[in-house]
Amino acid sequence: MKEKTYYVCSNCGFKTTKWAGKCPNCGQWNTLKQENQNKEKSSNLKIIKLDEIESTEVFSYKTNQKQIDEFLGGGFVVGGVYLIAGSPGIGKSTLLLQLSKYLVENSSKVLYISAEESAIQLSLKAKRLNSKIPVLESNDLDDIIFAIKQKYDLFVIDSIHTIYSNDVDSFIGSINQVRLCAQKLIEVAKEYNKTIIIVSHITKEGLIAGPKALEHLVDAVFYLESDDKYNYRLLRATKNRFASTESVVIFKMTESGLNIIEDDFLTYIEDTKELEGKAIGAILEGSYLMFIEIQALCVKSPFGMPRRTSVGFDLNRLNMLLAVIEKRLGLPMFEYDVYLNVIGGFKVNNTLVDMAVVASIISSLKKITMSNNYVFLGEIDLLGNVRKTKLPDILQQKLKNSNVKLLLHENTPNVEKLLKAIL
Ligand code: TYD
Ligand code: MG
Repeated sequence: MKEKTYYVCSNCGFKTTKWAGKCPNCGQWNTLKQENQNKEKSSNLKIIKLDEIESTEVFSYKTNQKQIDEFLGGGFVVGGVYLIAGSPGIGKSTLLLQLSKYLVENSSKVLYISAEESAIQLSLKAKRLNSKIPVLESNDLDDIIFAIKQKYDLFVIDSIHTIYSNDVDSFIGSINQVRLCAQKLIEVAKEYNKTIIIVSHITKEGLIAGPKALEHLVDAVFYLESDDKYNYRLLRATKNRFASTESVVIFKMTESGLNIIEDDFLTYIEDTKELEGKAIGAILEGSYLMFIEIQALCVKSPFGMPRRTSVGFDLNRLNMLLAVIEKRLGLPMFEYDVYLNVIGGFKVNNTLVDMAVVASIISSLKKITMSNNYVFLGEIDLLGNVRKTKLPDILQQKLKNSNVKLLLHENTPNVEKLLKAIL
């Protein structure tokens, strides 16, 4: 077979059959490196009959923390490879030091491989968390793989962007390095039945830096997100071969690490002032009901073209809701500039806050204040109808016992009813 030659950019991974000094995709100089395809392979292919494989029960390492084990689908699976991604400084190392601690306390053999922080830096963190776990300080992939083959069962690699393999001729953190290191780690995990948790940074754009490509290689991908006000952290799965991706875990970052929020009911409203243009909305994340504050300001527009500004909520969706208010409630929104602001909270790309958005706009327009006990939850469609939302039973029970009056589909099935309810 004739060998086909092609060139791969060590910066962006772009592939081309023609060499060039400058990568046509990312514009970096001298990054195109030759690779060969169609290399003849030795033909010791092994074909296996599925019924001849001895079935082994899926075994997993538990953390003994109810929320986390449920989130994982029982625990960290033997031979599973996990990716935990989040922005720098959000608390990935803190979370993993804690998870390691829980696992060790539950008699699992964990090795924390630190390629980013020195053991001394890490020990300062570990002291705050009261975490006594073995740490290997290394960023050389060969050393790390050697360590993985030894006596430990679970490994944390913190982080994938700071380890390197001598087999790749590109800089640490480049896409080629990251991809090859991840591939080799996955191979060794599968061959030796070891569990590996890989830490990865995400860039400003929210992509897992460079290796969005890693997502399909690993068994599970978790994101650690933060709200911008109350120091909560939310752990979400975008992929999990071993469990559903529905559930989330919410933590609060404290002086001594991340505290798991056990309550399903997250009180978000610290400022209890009742003001015009303010409405409390709720979103469902896993089994948590999270309250967020929405503020709207409607002022007479001096021009024929009203201004619409939104912080923390999709502007197109705001425009749609304004059109619904205008058409269904006959309110002259075209005469008003509308400013919308979501206070605190995680990224609200959630249509369940539609009701609260509409309520805050009406509150500002009609100059009415609403009780903080009113909480709005529901998606609104173009016809002004509120979609049904099914709340988990525990939440319904808790709501019954609280003084919160949740305005959802049952009491306000459309915007006309919503208007009546708040006026
Ligand atoms: P870190 O886990 O180092 O973030 P990442 O690994 O994602 O870059 O967390 C860094 C932040 O967390 C830092 O600002 C200090 C804070 N922190 C606490 O508030 N409490 C703690 O107990 C610890 C260990 C860190
Ligand atoms: Mg870190």
